[in-house]
Amino acid sequence: MAAHSTLPANLRGAIRRSRHLCVLTGAGISAESGVPTFREAQTGLWARYDPGELATPEAFIRQPALVWRWYRWRRELVARVEPNAGHRALVTLAEHLPRLTLITQNVDGLHQRAGSTDVVEFHGNLFSEWCFAERRPVECASDEEVPTCAYCGGLVRPGVVWFGEEIPPLALDRAFKAAAECDVFLNVGTSSQVYPAASLAVTAKDAGAIVVEINPEPTADATRFDFVIAARAGRVLSELVDSLVD
Ligand code: OAD
Repeated sequence: MAAHSTLPANLRGAIRRSRHLCVLTGAGISAESGVPTFREAQTGLWARYDPGELATPEAFIRQPALVWRWYRWRRELVARVEPNAGHRALVTLAEHLPRLTLITQNVDGLHQRAGSTDVVEFHGNLFSEWCFAERRPVECASDEEVPTCAYCGGLVRPGVVWFGEEIPPLALDRAFKAAAECDVFLNVGTSSQVYPAASLAVTAKDAGAIVVEINPEPTADATRFDFVIAARAGRVLSELVDSLVD
């Protein structure tokens, strides 16, 4: 395995010795399942759709049916794909390390479908629903084009964080605590352009963790990482598993 490894030996050693590994995933980890990312030039969702028309509270107030159609299309897309080697490797890593905190910016639920049991969903979940007025989860059985809240009668929205909105407080708190407490932090498949998620790696580094970027197109700001592994998440995370179980 080591002969063709993309991983430096000292990084493999650090992972093997880790007492608390913290992993932040972004759209790149689900790209290998066939879920489009956001910012890649040709294929990214934000190259084809205007987030201002689809992913803000103002857009929902203006055109709730349009917003719902777009999110239902994304639900259907995600329902057709399967978790990949990267998602699965994180399940195995969690089984072999004393502690792993998995934080995801993804709303696709693929980590859970792969078998991860405790995922910090930083940006919500595509398959959940929130009351728009109260921004709290609701059970929504209705199949109306724009569903309504069983409690207050107001509109129901997709349970994802939109531009300009706060991160759900519990997820925010758990994520920043884990970043500050871990000894190794992996930034996997994210362009690190969206805050506060992009601050997690900085928090980890400031607190003394080894911080690693895993991305075939490394992000410009390499200064915030101790290691940059320019390869796909599925391959790199599988190699991490191999280096633990060898
Ligand atoms: P982006 O689309 O901004 O970035 C995806 C990153 O994944 C890019 O840097 C790619 O180079 C990388 N990538 C592509 N294929 C990969 C692979 N096989 N392995 C590893 N990396 C790969 O997606 P995010 O950074 O996740 O927010 O975007 C952050 C947030 O912006 C999203 O959560 C979403 C979006 O607006 C909300 O919806 C609130």
